[in-house]
Amino acid sequence: MTRRLEGRVAAVTGAASGLGKATALALAKQGARVLLFDRDEVGLAATAAACPHSVTVVGDASSSVDVARAAETALLTLGPVELLAVAAGILGPAKPAIELAEEEWDRLFAINVKGPWLAARAFIPQMRERGRGSIVLFSSTAGLIGSRFLSAYSASKGAVTMLTRSLALNHAAEHIRVNCICPGTINGPMTDASFAQAGDVAAQEARAQIMLSGIPLRRFGEPEEIATAVLYLLGDEAGFTTGIALPVDGGRTA
Ligand SMILES: NC(=O)c1ccc[n+]([C@@H]2O[C@H](COP(=O)([O-])OP(=O)(O)OC[C@H]3O[C@@H](n4cnc5c(N)ncnc54)[C@H](O)[C@@H]3O)[C@@H](O)[C@H]2O)c1
Repeated sequence: MTRRLEGRVAAVTGAASGLGKATALALAKQGARVLLFDRDEVGLAATAAACPHSVTVVGDASSSVDVARAAETALLTLGPVELLAVAAGILGPAKPAIELAEEEWDRLFAINVKGPWLAARAFIPQMRERGRGSIVLFSSTAGLIGSRFLSAYSASKGAVTMLTRSLALNHAAEHIRVNCICPGTINGPMTDASFAQAGDVAAQEARAQIMLSGIPLRRFGEPEEIATAVLYLLGDEAGFTTGIALPVDGGRTA
């Protein structure tokens, strides 16, 4: 079987869990050598065990020092990174935006918005060295439409959507494409955490039913369904696609 990313170098943030992990596994399966970055050392080691030729860096996605260290490690061990998926992100408190404490707001934006900016800033020079590159940022359906349960998160993901479009314009002439994926509700730890914030078991079930009723396909997605779309955007098949925000959401935003 032909592996379509053989010989390519990739980096994935948030690689220890959920969608970042699924993306890293899919990249490795297609033959890419992958730099795996996350703050969760144990989870990162588990992902690395399933990704041949991968290298791990433990660090904080909102720290310029840690992200620069990840980029430098990739360059020294794997060569210039050409494909970048920025999945590290947090949900933050599920309450109306004005009820967040200032520190909660700042933390959410440091990880969800400054993080992707730091990653782009650290890895784009390597893509210039390669003469081409492709980046996928992780936005959300909440980055396209408002969310009453996760309003500050929605604001942070809206910023990711617009960062994507602006980076695409900034770097198109350098043959660097930048797109974002906008997952709907996907089975995994983040969705579990989101429902858990609703309250007791009955309240969690009620929240899940509300979310489900807004999805025309009447189910939540699977991490692999996101990874498949990310690989499409990262790869040469999407060579004429830049600056888009692709919903993979069961029709939620249709
Ligand atoms: N799961 C969903 O339903 C869903 C929907 C829409 C968008 N998203 C977005 O997709 C991305 C991945 O989500 P997921 O479902 O895989 O979540 P997840 O919680 O399963 O995984 C997130 C990963 O990011 C890492 N991370 C968080 N903050 C970090 C930091 N400061 N430094 C380094 N690593 C950090 C965590 O350790 C974890 O491994 C996120 O940006 C999320 O907002 C998820």
